[in-house]
Amino acid sequence: MSQQEARSVTVRAPAKINLFLGVGPVRPDGYHPLATVYQAIALYDDVTVTDDERWSVQLTGESRIDLAEVPADDTNIAIRAGRLLVEHHGLGERAARIEIHKGIPVAGGLAGGSADAAATLVALDRLWDLQTPDDELLELAGRLGSDVPFALLGGTAAGTGRGELVEPVADTGSWWWLVVENDEGLSTPAVYAAFDRLAHEIGDGTVADPIIPPALLAALAEGDVAGLAASVGNHLTDPALLLRPDLAHTFEDAEAAGALVALLSGSGPTVLLLCESMAHAHIVHREMVDKGHTRVSAVPAPVSGVHVVTSPW
Ligand code: C5P
Repeated sequence: MSQQEARSVTVRAPAKINLFLGVGPVRPDGYHPLATVYQAIALYDDVTVTDDERWSVQLTGESRIDLAEVPADDTNIAIRAGRLLVEHHGLGERAARIEIHKGIPVAGGLAGGSADAAATLVALDRLWDLQTPDDELLELAGRLGSDVPFALLGGTAAGTGRGELVEPVADTGSWWWLVVENDEGLSTPAVYAAFDRLAHEIGDGTVADPIIPPALLAALAEGDVAGLAASVGNHLTDPALLLRPDLAHTFEDAEAAGALVALLSGSGPTVLLLCESMAHAHIVHREMVDKGHTRVSAVPAPVSGVHVVTSPW
């Protein structure tokens, strides 16, 4: 392939957190119905796609990211995204090299893999000028994973179904979160399985259908940080603590450090600390580092979904 033909597009995709993650009874297909509120935060993966004769993925990342857990073969969700787009448009043998630069922790409950899939869909759509309509991109994204459509959307959004049906919600806040990363990842299916086990152990196995708390939506619409702190929640907290009892220390440290509230991110093990302002985040950050938490970042939210940062020419 000549130099002239080897065009590239780079796309940036944000991590997500769940301000509320309500989980319902397991469905026959093994998924759980969700009532969730997503928010995109300022931690990013960058995905660069270049025309090539076959599919490949190359991984790099910021120094704090453990790349060992990310598959670098055909099972990588970015390649699955590329192949799905090619199939959708009937493009036959079209393929691309996909370079992923990770700033989102791996297996952290921040949907880093979903961000890569969403970024790949948009990057290839632009590289090949496919002009895929938004509704088709969202549908393809939903087939790749429950969190992939939200990565396309960004901002703050309600999620239903298994999380793949997304609708923007009003959010006037300028929020500050501390993201406390963990040395060891947590498997999402394992946390959902622990959720099912707890439902049987604690009750009779029946789980109520979840609803998004109206107080949470009101706090977002009003930009009310105390209201937000009072209404966030995550039904996967107890199952994650069952698998990783050590996380209880992070919650205790967060409270002692003066966070407004501490919240498990998705299926964990990342813990999110809501702060009043950037200045407050700075103070709580120092306290957490003093308590031995080495990988803590202060991030603003909400931020945009997937967006192109460099184009072919
Ligand atoms: O959709 P995704 O591939 O990201 O889901 C990964 C796994 O997480 C699923 O295989 C399932 O075990 C679990 N999951 C679930 N209910 C959801 C979303 C994910 O049980 N709503």
